[in-house]
Amino acid sequence: LCIVTERQVASYYLEEVCSLLEKECAKLEVYIFQEGEESKNLSTVDSLYHFLITHEFDRKDMLVALGGGVVGDITGFAAATFLRGVSLCQIPTTLLAQVDSSVGGKTGVDMPEGKNLVGAFYQPRLVLIDPNVLASLPDSTFADGMAEVVKYGYISNREILTMVSQPDYKANIESIIYECVKIKRDVVAIDEHDTGLRMILNFGHTIGHAAEKLGNYVDLTHGQAVAV
Ligand code: GLY
Repeated sequence: LCIVTERQVASYYLEEVCSLLEKECAKLEVYIFQEGEESKNLSTVDSLYHFLITHEFDRKDMLVALGGGVVGDITGFAAATFLRGVSLCQIPTTLLAQVDSSVGGKTGVDMPEGKNLVGAFYQPRLVLIDPNVLASLPDSTFADGMAEVVKYGYISNREILTMVSQPDYKANIESIIYECVKIKRDVVAIDEHDTGLRMILNFGHTIGHAAEKLGNYVDLTHGQAVAV
């Protein structure tokens, strides 16, 4: 296995994840890059390819994305393309990655001309979601994910809106995540390659992407823009 993660997530969870996996696999390597959307580019993927080649990874091996959306997108794209495809496991550590980006197989990187312009549809073998990791998120990062949660309420299941309206909704976050992932799974099972129904998952994103772009992808996070 190669665990791919970024510095901040590594400081919270890498040791524990490694100690669990070490017992289970013959070879365990870790690739850590600098956190942030600025890292979501071909240069990071290129460095990861070199790391994998240097450590003699082959097609029987697996990449494990431990982190938020950026880690998942980069690792997923590397898994889709290294040796024409190696196995992928997603362990999302933000609410947004848990309810959206880790599920459904969209992977990719940004180009200077725009976001997510290069990528692949590549399904993970496994997505491991542990809601306990959300406790370490700053409120604003948690809120980014809630924008996507509310989206699922509007496009598919109004019950989610009722759930998130409760003062103690965080106590039910596991059920909320479960409902969201179920919707995403069902949509992607019908339209994996985003030619029809899957576009419903972009509800609110047309204006959101415009708002994000106007702020040069710095003033607003993706979640804040979707909330707008
Ligand atoms: N994030 C939207 C989708 O996966 O289609």
